[in-house]
Amino acid sequence: MALPTLLCIHGFPLDGSFWQPQVQGLAGAAHVTAPDLRGFGADRRPVPEVMTMEAFAEDLMESLDRAGIERAVLCGLSMGGYVAMAFTERWPERVQGLILCNTRSTADNDAGKAAREQTALDALSKGAGVIARAMVPKVLSQRTRSQHPAEAQRIEEIMARQRPESIAAASRGMALRPDRTGLLRRIKVPALIVTGSEDNLMPLETSEAMNGAMAGSELVVIPGAAHLSCSESPVEFNRHASRFLAVFH
Ligand code: MLT
Repeated sequence: MALPTLLCIHGFPLDGSFWQPQVQGLAGAAHVTAPDLRGFGADRRPVPEVMTMEAFAEDLMESLDRAGIERAVLCGLSMGGYVAMAFTERWPERVQGLILCNTRSTADNDAGKAAREQTALDALSKGAGVIARAMVPKVLSQRTRSQHPAEAQRIEEIMARQRPESIAAASRGMALRPDRTGLLRRIKVPALIVTGSEDNLMPLETSEAMNGAMAGSELVVIPGAAHLSCSESPVEFNRHASRFLAVFH
C-alpha cells in the first residue's frame, strides 16, 4: 500500500510541534510531515518585516523539492490553511488533496487588517507570552480548557516560545492575503473541510462557504471543539482524516 505524504501546515503563532497528535495518530494513514514555518519553532532563518502566505508556500515547495516529493496532501489549520491555498494557487499540480481546518478563503476587511498591525506591535513591544495568554481562551473551547488542561498548557507554551519578530511578520503577512474563494471553485482534487462547533474566530458560515465553493468537498464539524480542532479533539479529527486519506492509498 502506497501511503500519501501529508504536509501539515501550522496556524498562528504555533510551530510544527502543534501537529504532534496527528504525527502520531495518522502514521498508518500517511507519511506525515509537520515543518516549522519560517521563523517559527526551530526554524532560525531570519524573517522579513512582512512574511506573506505566498512566501511561506514557496518555502514549503522548496522543502518538497529537496525531499523529492512530487505530490502531497496539504493539511492547513487557520493561517496554515491560507498558506495551503496560496500553495495550491501557484502549484496545483503538486497538490493531491486538501484538508482545510478552521480557516477561510476570504481576505481581511479594514478592521481586521488594523487588528493584525496591533498584534504585530504588541508582539514586538510586549513579547510572545502576552500574545499567548490572550490567544488561548480565544482558540480553545471552554470544554478543552477545563477537561484537557495539559493540552491547553501545551498550546500556550508553543505560542509563548515563538520569536516576536516572526509573530509580527506573519500577522502582517496575513493582512495582505487576497480572497481565494475563486481558487476554491477551480479545485478538482478531493478536499475535506474541518471546523469546530465552538470556533468563534472562524464561524461555521466561513467553512460552509468554502464547502459550497468546492465541487466534491466534504465538511465535518467537530462538536465541542473551537479553533484548534485537531488538538482539541485529536481522536475524532484523526478518524475523519484517516478516512479521507484512504482515498489516496
Ligand atoms: C490562526 O489560528 O492561524 C489565526 O487565528 C489565523 C487568523 O488570525 O486569521
